[in-house]
Amino acid sequence: MPDWLITGCSELLALRGPVPRRGRALRDLGIVRNGAVLVRDDRILAVGERRKIERLRDARRAEKLDLGGRVVLPGFVDSHTHLIFPGSRADEYEQRILGKTYEQIAQAGGGIRATVAALRRSSSKSLFERANVHLREFAAHGTTTLEAKSGYGLDWTNEVKILCALQQLHQDQPLDIVPTFLGAHVIPPEFRKQPEAFVDLLVRRWIPAVAAAGLAEFCDVFCDRGAFTAPQARRILTTARACGLVPRIHAEQLTRTGGARLAIEVQAASADHLDRINESDIRALALSNVACTLLPGCPFHLGLACHAPARALIDEGAIVALATDFNPGTSPTVNMSMILSLACSQLRMTPAEAIASATINPAYSLRQHGRVGSLDAGKYADLAAFDVADHREIPYYFGVNLCSLTMKRGAIIHSKKL
Ligand code: NIG
Ligand code: FE
Repeated sequence: MPDWLITGCSELLALRGPVPRRGRALRDLGIVRNGAVLVRDDRILAVGERRKIERLRDARRAEKLDLGGRVVLPGFVDSHTHLIFPGSRADEYEQRILGKTYEQIAQAGGGIRATVAALRRSSSKSLFERANVHLREFAAHGTTTLEAKSGYGLDWTNEVKILCALQQLHQDQPLDIVPTFLGAHVIPPEFRKQPEAFVDLLVRRWIPAVAAAGLAEFCDVFCDRGAFTAPQARRILTTARACGLVPRIHAEQLTRTGGARLAIEVQAASADHLDRINESDIRALALSNVACTLLPGCPFHLGLACHAPARALIDEGAIVALATDFNPGTSPTVNMSMILSLACSQLRMTPAEAIASATINPAYSLRQHGRVGSLDAGKYADLAAFDVADHREIPYYFGVNLCSLTMKRGAIIHSKKL
């Protein structure tokens, strides 16, 4: 692998500075004009003004990569995905357009349970291959690190099948995958009449076993009407923490059930969705170290007008992150730029706030900020170049993929003709 001297960046968004970013600091992208990046092996050796970087001794030997006036930023860190699933749920998409709600479809046996039934019938090989295709698409859109959840198996064999596929994918392809155990996605059909017995199984057997086998770093719960109650989620996440898995939570997506407060109580790394939080939740989250991961792809895809109060969260000083929530039911997209567009137009975040929320803050929420999320000497050479001259044009041109180059740990893993 050659060393690289990357030049020709109209704007180099280094994102150096405080981690995590809160309040006004979220707008600070640490922009270096006419900047350059020097890469050695898988790491960044130096970042700064082109004139200075070019003069470094190591720069002379490096291969030149001129980006021709493009915007360069740290590869996106997508901190909420359900990467492994078979098929699509386009049938439900149509049913919703014709008037059914997400919850009505779920109650009729569709929704998450439909994907669970299909996954249980799928081979590891087919799931692996499908996820690999998706990962190439993530890379082509500028994402270099992603979190991925289990949660479509919901029996021991199939949850392990997903977690092992994630481990294999992490090893076999370039993107970094951070695994999360989401055994508490919904109550599986075989426990429908005895939900507490399923929670017992999770806390007594599955969570300790997943932690002991090193199959996940985080443990998530879908805490909502039709899934798990706040008391059940508390039991699950307290156990997870005691076993060494850091809590995350799907909170206040469809209804306000107390998930955001629970996230603070169990010191979760992240509370995700937050479409239905109230003012006191906002103030409490702002005073905490819980990342507020907003997922505007969901209300967009579901056709709902209820959006997370991003503006208030940022202004109060909460740690805000953005993610795709890539999944077949509520947000089938790998395109982080599209999420930025939605964050800007629907959540009223500025383009700079959206970019910081898709790089350094999610890196913090995944406890990966020592390695990724900003262009800093010593971190992985993970970056993405976009076919624009001004970073605001990334969300501005919505629905197109303007990512022309993605580098992961010093290797070019996606490139359109430069
Ligand atoms: O994040 N809310 C729970 N989980 C997913 C949806 C999963 C599905 O519908 O398959 C979400 O929106
Ligand atoms: Fe999700």
